[in-house]
Amino acid sequence: MTSLLSPFAIGDLKLANRLVMAPMTRFRSPGGVPTAEVADYYARRAAGGIGLIVTEGTLVGHPSASHETTVPRMTAGVAEAGWRLVTDAVHDTGGRIAAQLWHLGSERRPVDGRESWTPSTMSVSDIDTIVEAFAESARVAVLAGFDAVEIHAAHGYLLDEFLWPVTNRRTDAYGADRSRFPAEVVRAVRAQLSPETPLIVRFSQFKERDYDARIAASPGELESLLTPLADAGADILHASQRRFWEPAFAGSPLNLAGWARKLTGLPSITVGSVGLNGDLPELPRLLDGLSTGEFDLVAAGRILLANPSWASLLTSNRLADVRGYQKSHESVYF
Ligand SMILES: Cc1cc2nc3c(=O)[nH]c(=O)nc-3n(C[C@H](O)[C@H](O)[C@H](O)COP(=O)(O)O)c2cc1C
Repeated sequence: MTSLLSPFAIGDLKLANRLVMAPMTRFRSPGGVPTAEVADYYARRAAGGIGLIVTEGTLVGHPSASHETTVPRMTAGVAEAGWRLVTDAVHDTGGRIAAQLWHLGSERRPVDGRESWTPSTMSVSDIDTIVEAFAESARVAVLAGFDAVEIHAAHGYLLDEFLWPVTNRRTDAYGADRSRFPAEVVRAVRAQLSPETPLIVRFSQFKERDYDARIAASPGELESLLTPLADAGADILHASQRRFWEPAFAGSPLNLAGWARKLTGLPSITVGSVGLNGDLPELPRLLDGLSTGEFDLVAAGRILLANPSWASLLTSNRLADVRGYQKSHESVYF
């Protein structure tokens, strides 16, 4: 367990261990404002031993981001005050927390009267508007006390729609270089953060609606997508997979986080079905990946819905006390 329990530091972010709570949308923030109940939910996971929490996706402050009314926003004023409750509660337990910034693109109906926001429907001025919205939300996240910011560029949402050749059919510079818009977002967000505040970028091959989709067919293609994000100021890459132990490309056992680290030199977070059933048969694979430097941090999602103290149970060899994840855990909130 020593590799899971070893501290990790990057800039001002100092983590007690290598365990991360993956971002999970919970629909518990009426009007986009996190409540005291949300603060308690995250504080419970921090107290339960998670080194870093990544919040559920929080909407950037542009009406095209989503029509959802219970998904939290990262906007100045009441939402910012709600987030202050959350960051204070997490910090009071000694935990650390990053805000995930999100624009849903065509995955959800926007409220601004337009059909959808996609690579095919956005003008360059629309792109500039969204870059600015991400930057403004990063500014708010800093004011609200977050320790880091994560940009959601995974799973088929707006930024990922630019990375994926199937949805990015543009014939301009934003099509020739599919990372151009995500990299502009990274650069603009980076400019809002102190140089010591880490910026995480989450990406994936798969889409929520297409598990077989791929933004990169080869390591070389992945390198061409990730290098501009690293050059624009990403500090950590969060490589979202459905099962962390699966190789990302034929011919090598490296997983997606392993490739991200190898290709860019940046630290990486792996994720995907860690401990999902309560036991953890893949623990040797996990510890091996940490100790060989394949990846630096390990995120878990669903198992933390049912077990706020999962991290402590894992690291104190009490997995027998962990409740295996069931779909019904997604509708409870504690
Ligand atoms: C209920 C639920 C909500 C999720 N919401 C988000 C989200 O807002 N942002 C995101 O990047 N991923 C989201 N995910 C994906 C998780 O972060 C994670 O990558 C996925 O659940 C796989 O990890 P796990 O097998 O440990 O659960 C969500 C997953 C679940 C189950």
